[in-house]
Amino acid sequence: MRGVRPDIALLEQNGITGVAMPRLGDPSVIPLWFGEGDVVTPEFIRAAAKKALDDGDTFYVNTRGTIELRAAIRDYTNNLYGTSIDVERVSVPGSSMLGVTIAAQMALNKGDDALVVSPHWPNIETTYAVTGANVITVRQRETPSGWQLTADEIIEVATPKTRSIFVNSPCNPTGWVMPREEQEKLLAFCRENDVLLIADEVYHRHFYQADAAPSFIEIAEEEDPVVIVNGFSKAWAMTGWRLGWVITPKSQGTHWAIMSECFNTGSTVFAQRAGITALEQGERTVHALKQQYQQGRDLLIQKLGQHPHIDLCAPEGAFYAFPRIKGIQSSRTFAEQLLAEADVGVAPGYTFGAGNDEYIRICFALGQDRLSEGLDRIVRFIDRQ
Ligand SMILES: Cc1ncc(COP(=O)(O)O)c(C=O)c1O
Repeated sequence: MRGVRPDIALLEQNGITGVAMPRLGDPSVIPLWFGEGDVVTPEFIRAAAKKALDDGDTFYVNTRGTIELRAAIRDYTNNLYGTSIDVERVSVPGSSMLGVTIAAQMALNKGDDALVVSPHWPNIETTYAVTGANVITVRQRETPSGWQLTADEIIEVATPKTRSIFVNSPCNPTGWVMPREEQEKLLAFCRENDVLLIADEVYHRHFYQADAAPSFIEIAEEEDPVVIVNGFSKAWAMTGWRLGWVITPKSQGTHWAIMSECFNTGSTVFAQRAGITALEQGERTVHALKQQYQQGRDLLIQKLGQHPHIDLCAPEGAFYAFPRIKGIQSSRTFAEQLLAEADVGVAPGYTFGAGNDEYIRICFALGQDRLSEGLDRIVRFIDRQ
């Protein structure tokens, strides 16, 4: 292909979009495929963005984010986790996804190994592949008490060429949450071997046993090789705003400024003003959304948990379930037929890494009525097979 690097030409669109594209926006489809619910960003957050526009917030600002937003992120983090991180460790390059991309670009050379805890969100693998690194994965295990993986199992798969380890906890798509003592072991390994740990914590407020999931920020020293990625999309219902942040070693600050400059020169300025409002006034929103997701999770367990053709590990966090549909040959075909015959959109398992072609991902963030109808349609469809 002219003008496209051969390795880029080989990349494929992720399977979620692949299934969804032909029916995107079709009101007859119950969409359980993407990682978002149906709640519009709350009014008080939207009002802050409108006010910022009316105040003339339309100019370039610091590429690492405005100091006001970075300070609000520092305060939010310190209040939530009882830490005392410095504002110099906070950058707002754009979306959380961009945070992962920049971290990967900074750490990896062509030919390095990049280790990803799997099943994993497909965009992560693509982002790593673009660096020229070899992506290697280590798969969580299904156990009677949920998805599990120890730090030792991750470390066992690491090679002398491994320069980065990606851990997404709570996990999209399984809902796995990495326990504190496993985090400590993995962090010690990364510290000793100078491996960059990219800790994707965008679902940090969607942990069903506590207010927030265990975070690497609670145990990392200031100069440990850890980049914590977080953002507004999930906890404040702001997926379309494309606003996220990273907490990095203090010494990386200038590099985040430089990398932000060459990606999108920082994030949208009036969205940043809304981000401050979300952090400072949004706790009730965060809790209300989590309550909705918790009800969604209970409903899903109730409707699918006992089905003879479905193996379901109850998710501990995030807002997805990743059930195995026993006996299906292809998750893509299953998702496409479910869409065509029952008007429900789910994500096919194969796109979350090897070993997942008997699985589908169901997002349970939608309001109860539509979620309930969607789950009933899935059950009826499976019963007809
Ligand atoms: C694991 C994970 N990381 C990052 C992101 C990206 O978040 P954002 O919308 O802030 O870019 C998502 C979005 O679904 C995700 O599931």
